[in-house]
Amino acid sequence: MGVKVSYKELGLANTREMFKKAVNGGYAIPAYNFNNLEQLQAIVTACAETSSPVIVQVSKGARDYANQTMLRYMAMGAVEMVREMGAQIPIALHLDHGDTLELCKSCVDSGFSSVMIDGSHHSYEENVALTRQVVEYAHAHDVTVEGELGVLAGIEDEVQAEHSTYTRPEEVEDFVQKTGVDSLAISIGTSHGAFKFKVKEGEEPPPLRFDILAEIERRIPGFPIVLHGASSVVPEYVELINAYGGKLEGAVGVSEEQLRRAAASAVCKINIDSDGRLAVTARVREFLANNPGEFDPRKYLGAARKELIKLIKHKNETVLGSAGKA
Ligand code: 13P
Repeated sequence: MGVKVSYKELGLANTREMFKKAVNGGYAIPAYNFNNLEQLQAIVTACAETSSPVIVQVSKGARDYANQTMLRYMAMGAVEMVREMGAQIPIALHLDHGDTLELCKSCVDSGFSSVMIDGSHHSYEENVALTRQVVEYAHAHDVTVEGELGVLAGIEDEVQAEHSTYTRPEEVEDFVQKTGVDSLAISIGTSHGAFKFKVKEGEEPPPLRFDILAEIERRIPGFPIVLHGASSVVPEYVELINAYGGKLEGAVGVSEEQLRRAAASAVCKINIDSDGRLAVTARVREFLANNPGEFDPRKYLGAARKELIKLIKHKNETVLGSAGKA
């Protein structure tokens, strides 16, 4: 690791103030994942144009694909770009699903303003110990930390373990108190990826477990809660992908109505990755099918970027309620 750099020098913000306002205001801060230039341009453009605070986040897959250092410099570029647009929105650069103390430290040292330590796959005691270590290091640099209790199903996971992986409300007070985390990711029925629920044709997916959320809120009132796996798997995109040669059968997400309800509660950060992927894939497939002679990536990635801006504005304005809150 080279010279240490603080996120403050890069014009980024940690999540503390954002979350306080979001919890009090009954809305959620959008946390959009990015891996490439067009996604990041779309995220910050849409958030600047809707005057929304934003968390841009970097997952393990993104780090493997684009390189952690490259992503950090891209985020710095995004901050500059927003400034030149004349917009004043807080932007946090967040590590999504950090799995080790070393990784979290390297992100803190290289300009991230927020990190997640996901110890949810460990035993409760190990999760507490690991999260506590990350908090100690991060807080010494005024970087905020997200912990997790309860395990979300992954893209291919079977449903059989679903009930045992919901967050146990009886653990949250102890976890928050022992670790000192700034926010807590919980498991109330969402999952990562485009295949969140197995439903028959015409059936509604099961509602999220708002009873668990309510019990968590009762135990730690006003504490910032994070919802992962919150893409709606926008049906129009799935249809477009399938119409242009794709094969996404049975892709189902969390309804906007459920997300609105969550955003109005103590849920103050909503993670969205898959919807962005679907928007990009839908427009790229459509463009290439309709323009077989075109081979300039700027053309089809430009179409994808335009769609992403539209999607993100829609989410900020009508789902998360973050528009106008910068
Ligand atoms: P989705 O797959 O529902 O977009 O969830 C993304 C996420 O939670 C990233 O941490």
